[in-house]
This record gives sequence, C-alpha cells and structure tokens, in this order.
Amino acid sequence: MDYVIGPRLHLFEIDDQPWFPRYLRGKIQECLTFCWSFSFPYLRSGPSASSSLARVLRKELGSSLPSYTFIDFCAGAGGPTPIVERHLNGQLAKEGLEPVNFVLTDLYPNPEAWNRIQEQSPAFRYVAQPVDAGKAPGKEILLGDDNVTGKKEKKVFRMFNLAFHHFDDDGAKRILRDAVQGSDAIGIFEIQSRTLSGFLQVAAIGPILTFLTPSHGPFLNFGHLFFTYIIPILPFVMVFDGYMSALRTRTPQEILELLDTIPERDRAGWEWKWGRQSFAKPVGEINYFMGIKNPPE
Ligand SMILES: C[S@@+](CC[C@H](N)C(=O)[O-])C[C@H]1O[C@@H](n2cnc3c(N)ncnc32)[C@H](O)[C@@H]1O
Repeated sequence: MDYVIGPRLHLFEIDDQPWFPRYLRGKIQECLTFCWSFSFPYLRSGPSASSSLARVLRKELGSSLPSYTFIDFCAGAGGPTPIVERHLNGQLAKEGLEPVNFVLTDLYPNPEAWNRIQEQSPAFRYVAQPVDAGKAPGKEILLGDDNVTGKKEKKVFRMFNLAFHHFDDDGAKRILRDAVQGSDAIGIFEIQSRTLSGFLQVAAIGPILTFLTPSHGPFLNFGHLFFTYIIPILPFVMVFDGYMSALRTRTPQEILELLDTIPERDRAGWEWKWGRQSFAKPVGEINYFMGIKNPPE
C-alpha cells in the first residue's frame, strides 16, 4: 500500500472556477478524455486507463454486469466511457450476451461531444437537461427505454469518473446518500491519488500532452495546438489541476467515513469494495471504490 501524503486538502482547481473561460473548459475536458484513452508506451493496442476501468467493472460485477445500465454522472466530454463501452460490449458479444447501455449526464451538459459519441455507438444516449449528481432524477428519466418493468428491468449503476474528488464533504455525502436511496450500484474511479505514485503520474501529464498532442484524435484543431504550444494554458492547467485533484482525492477509509453519516436503514444490503488496477507500470493506476446493493452470492 502506498503511503498517503497528508490529510485531504480543500484546494481549488482552475477549471472549476466560474471565471475560467467556457471555451478552455471544453478543451480541458477533451484533454482529460485524451488522458483516459492514451496508452503508454504509445501503442494503440496497449491498455489505457479506460480499458483498465472496463476490466475493473468486468471483474467486480462478474456475471451480473449485463443486468445494469451505466449512468455516467459528471460525464464532461465523455471521459473514459466510450472506450469502456467498446470493451465491455465487445466482450459481452464474444460471450453471446446482450450489450449494456450507457447514459451521459452532467450539471453542464455537453451535447456537442455527446452527439459525436452517440454517432459511434447505439449503446449511448444522453440527458440533455442539467443533472445534479446529488439530486438525480428518477429511473424513468435516467433509464429511458431501459426502464421496463418485469424480467428485463435494468438496474442503475452510477459512475463517477475523475469527478468525486471535486466535491467537498457535504457535496460528497449528498451524492452517496442519493446513490444508496436511488440506485443499485455506484462506482468512483480516479486516475490520481494522494500518494507518491499518484503525484508522479500527474508529473507525466505535462510531457505527455506536449509530445502527444499532435495525435489528439478527433479533438485536434487549431485551438488545441495554439493553447498547447504558443500559449501553453492547457498543459499548465492540466498539471496544476492534476496536483490539486491528487491532494483532494479521498482514500477508501475517508469514503467509508462519509458513508457512516448515512442512516443505516438506507445502507442496508449494500456491499463496499475498493482497489487499484494498474495500466502503465510503475505509476499509472486506477483507484476505485464501488458499492453494490444486494450483490449476488
Ligand atoms: C473533471 S470533470 C470529469 C469529466 C469526465 N468524467 C472525465 O473523466 O473526463 C468533472 C465534471 O463534473 C461536472 N459537475 C460538477 N458539479 C456537478 C454536479 N453537482 N452534478 C453533476 N455534474 C457536476 C462538471 O461539469 C464536469 O464536467
């Protein structure tokens, strides 16, 4: 177990600030999506953070995986979810099982990015209205066509990718309470941590963005190049926010303490697990914390 660096700090991230320009916020979201999807060394077939997240879901949910619909709260520009979908549904197809569906939501919806994702796969839909992760709408809105009663009714899995650390303790408690009252599973996935390896991982973001931006896939445009090489705001904000995020990331023990503040009757039947999944040794790893309601024996 890595040594945890100090207490969790309430520092600020630049792209959280209301004064941060909307245009650059969109570019930062795209940089985050890039960090989720690139593999190191830069081999297209190697594991990325996103494909490792898919592996975690497959491992932890086992044969119950097809019974869920995955709702991405705080989806931003999509983050890891399109790659997670490709991996999971590719594997389910090989096993002759039905694909699972994904729903993108955010307090600040990003229909432009989400339409692009939807064009790539019929497994995606999105909620165009703002969705507050601490006060989510009911199943009928989140699940859409998957909200059928009877044998084929889907369970709700709430995903928080690179997002849970953004919330202060009150916000985080609201999210956890809303999840245990209104869903069947929750997964918190972070690619940074308050550990030495977490800090080294953030340090790698600067060179990665500087050297690999030209291969930025669908996001590459003049603005991206300009704000990377001429006025390097994007690498600066990504590294600065990366360190702030690492200092704000909770340990599993700290999340358990937040859960203890929720009435016991609401938590009844929930099982909690956590762990790490490496994708780029020695420092690249996903830290996850999951809760499952009434897991199969
Ligand atoms: C760092 S981004 C993570 C984006 C994406 N999941 C990823 O991995 O790249 C955090 C996201 O949380 C969203 N957000 C902030 N407060 C929220 C809230 N109360 N409910 C839902 N989304 C929220 C922001 O709009 C932003 O898109």
